[in-house]
Amino acid sequence: MKNFKDAITFITGGASGAGLGQAELFGKLGAKIIIADIRKDHLDKAVAILGEKGVTAYPIELDLTDRQAYAAAADEVERVFGGPPALLIQTAGVNTFGPAEASTYEDYDWVMGVCLGAVINGMITFVPRMIKAYGNGKREAHICCVSSMGAFMGCRTCAPYSAAKAAVVNLMDSYYQSLKPYGIGVTVQCPGNINSNIWDAVATRPAHLQNTGYHVSEETKAVLKSIHAAGQDPVDLATWLKNAIEAEQLLCIPFPGGDQMLRGLYEKYINYASPEGMKKNEEEEKKQAEAMHQMQQAVPDVGYGKAKGDIDWVRDEQKFKVTQ
Ligand code: NAI
Repeated sequence: MKNFKDAITFITGGASGAGLGQAELFGKLGAKIIIADIRKDHLDKAVAILGEKGVTAYPIELDLTDRQAYAAAADEVERVFGGPPALLIQTAGVNTFGPAEASTYEDYDWVMGVCLGAVINGMITFVPRMIKAYGNGKREAHICCVSSMGAFMGCRTCAPYSAAKAAVVNLMDSYYQSLKPYGIGVTVQCPGNINSNIWDAVATRPAHLQNTGYHVSEETKAVLKSIHAAGQDPVDLATWLKNAIEAEQLLCIPFPGGDQMLRGLYEKYINYASPEGMKKNEEEEKKQAEAMHQMQQAVPDVGYGKAKGDIDWVRDEQKFKVTQ
């Protein structure tokens, strides 16, 4: 896809962070912007911010995990804009941190429900509509997802997130292959750290999925906020995405040296498949643990990434202690 002018563009999580950057960039290129988000306050603020930048955005308040509401939102888009999105960007995501062994069903259901389930909902809702409206050369069309570099590695303190993000990359590969004959492109972006509001994601955790094994507090959120403040600018990130869409790339690693990093991560998996490789990985892990230890010393120890204190099967070092 190369021409974004007048392209009906549906951005999930478009009211904050990476999604807001996409709304600004594609809006300035003349796309018709729809931002879908669960947070009314984020939507109101985003419409005002975008308006000041000369971009008109149509807000839809939507919980992407609600399939009926998602179908109603898609109908609303067709009613208001005269067709389904030609550019679908699935950016919404949530995360929360704690040791894998402390995870609850609810930790998985919430994080995977948004990071993977909502992407599946987006595909089921929009793919048939997009093929019918734009397939086979009727108009350029493209589907994007924001995954993460976390897709290519396991993570001791964000297992549900890493599993969901890995699945999204794989899923997009499948759709890339199946939608190519219809002339619909697919791109999955895998960022590192983004300057966004994801540190506050727990604010949207539904009431019925509150049971968590992780220690989360105002202090742990503050640590996360400071980490993300140093992240990539959302409009810069959106520019990498636009370039990847134009080049019809399946994968977008949005920083210099991304290909080298990816090679390193795959090398690690190849190493896991032999005793010599396992030794290499163990040495590398030791180095990384040391580097992590040094980094953590610069951050106040408020129990970030730890389990709740009352979980009796988790190692003491991985649990939040009241004295911390
Ligand atoms: P953000 O929190 O600033 O924006 C995400 C938006 O998604 C929020 O406005 C939130 O209200 C919305 N959202 C959450 N659950 C929803 C639901 N059920 N229905 C509708 N909307 C919902 O976060 P950010 O960082 O901009 O995240 C964008 C994407 O980038 C996510 O998929 C995230 O996993 C991914 N990512 C983020 C990284 C980071 O460092 N922040 C790094 C790599 C990937």
